[in-house]
Amino acid sequence: MIQPFNRNMIIRNAAQVVRCSANAAKCGVDMSELHIEENANIVITGGIITYVGSELEFPSFANLSAYNTVDATGKAILPGFVDSHTHLVFGGYREDEFAWRMRGDSYMSIMERGGGIHSTMMATRNASFEELYTAAKKRLENMLRLGITTVEAKSGYGMNRETELKQLAVIKELNRTQPITVVPTFMGAHATPPEYKNREDDFINYLTSKIMPEIREKNLAVFCDIFCEKNVFSLEQSRRYLQKAKELGFLLKIHADEIVQFGGAELAAEMRCTSADHLLQASDAGIHQMAENHVVATLLPCTAFSLKERFADARKMIDAGCAVALATDLNPGSSFTSSVPLTFALACIYMRMSAEEAVNALTINGAAAIARAETIGSIDPGKRADLLMLDYPSYKFLPYHIGMNIVKMVIKNGEIVVNN
Ligand code: NIG
Ligand code: FE
Repeated sequence: MIQPFNRNMIIRNAAQVVRCSANAAKCGVDMSELHIEENANIVITGGIITYVGSELEFPSFANLSAYNTVDATGKAILPGFVDSHTHLVFGGYREDEFAWRMRGDSYMSIMERGGGIHSTMMATRNASFEELYTAAKKRLENMLRLGITTVEAKSGYGMNRETELKQLAVIKELNRTQPITVVPTFMGAHATPPEYKNREDDFINYLTSKIMPEIREKNLAVFCDIFCEKNVFSLEQSRRYLQKAKELGFLLKIHADEIVQFGGAELAAEMRCTSADHLLQASDAGIHQMAENHVVATLLPCTAFSLKERFADARKMIDAGCAVALATDLNPGSSFTSSVPLTFALACIYMRMSAEEAVNALTINGAAAIARAETIGSIDPGKRADLLMLDYPSYKFLPYHIGMNIVKMVIKNGEIVVNN
């Protein structure tokens, strides 16, 4: 949408500005604080937030007429949502597997007989750049309408040089052309491809010696991630992979303790991962070590829901002083959804998170989970103006209006990109 003025905006008279103020992850009890200003105004200059407050007299401007005005009377304004864990770029779908799972098959048993991640690997290898780009672009457009302004996206459906690079090139192009910021993660170690069947160690060597350095050199990913799980990659293999990634200058993520308790949370703490994700089965020791070592615990309620697993123990993690983030895990298998509304509902209804904790988990802590908490995730002067307006006066409607998209307007970099 073309704006009359260049990323300058005054948002007037919001019923609530939910600031989520911080420059780093909010841990433990701090997750209950939202820093709300009532009847407040926001000034955006050149795409950056320059003022937040309730004074009627704004700070003086050289040229007030150069500011686009948005009336937010009766509405709440929040930071744009940060979806810090997705598998956005993939070929094909797995609708039959959903039916098999509902019939009683387990996620891992489907994977072990060649379905699951392997089935998407084949479809992704066979898809062209354009096919992957077009499908992912559509998903991003849906996400933007739900208020997501930044998304993390993983490779990991190639598991060979050609297709991993193809996925990362698609992510790069989406970041360049689409309003949503897309943060790339290399996840070559998502499963072992048929070429390396029963040779997991060789596959890890191949990834760390041949692919990771090239991705680093071409600057195609910020993070490296691995599926550390029984019958996927062992703790030792995960440690080796993450260690090499760290040496090359990547930041680290890990799929940890999703299906069985495996020591993944402990490894995340040991390796100082930026985040550990899933954590359905994380041990008490692992939870405490994550809190001590400032590893963001990224929880994915839509995945647990879709797999009919018990939810991660968000309450225990927050009470232990962890920073919890929430994300959708959008992927064609375990969580084929980017529904922020469902994420809110599940977190608050089943995971005993308060609405305040869930809002921080999808904004500032999501930003921290992708190492961007200094520039996005809260409504503070100096931060990028990635904001959303709800159709209601309070953030409390987010879990309460179950499964509904109540986002009325999305502002990205100071420009209106969605106006429902
Ligand atoms: O985060 N657990 C591993 N990876 C994804 C699922 C990928 C898939 O099933 O395609 C996840 O749930
Ligand atoms: Fe995942």
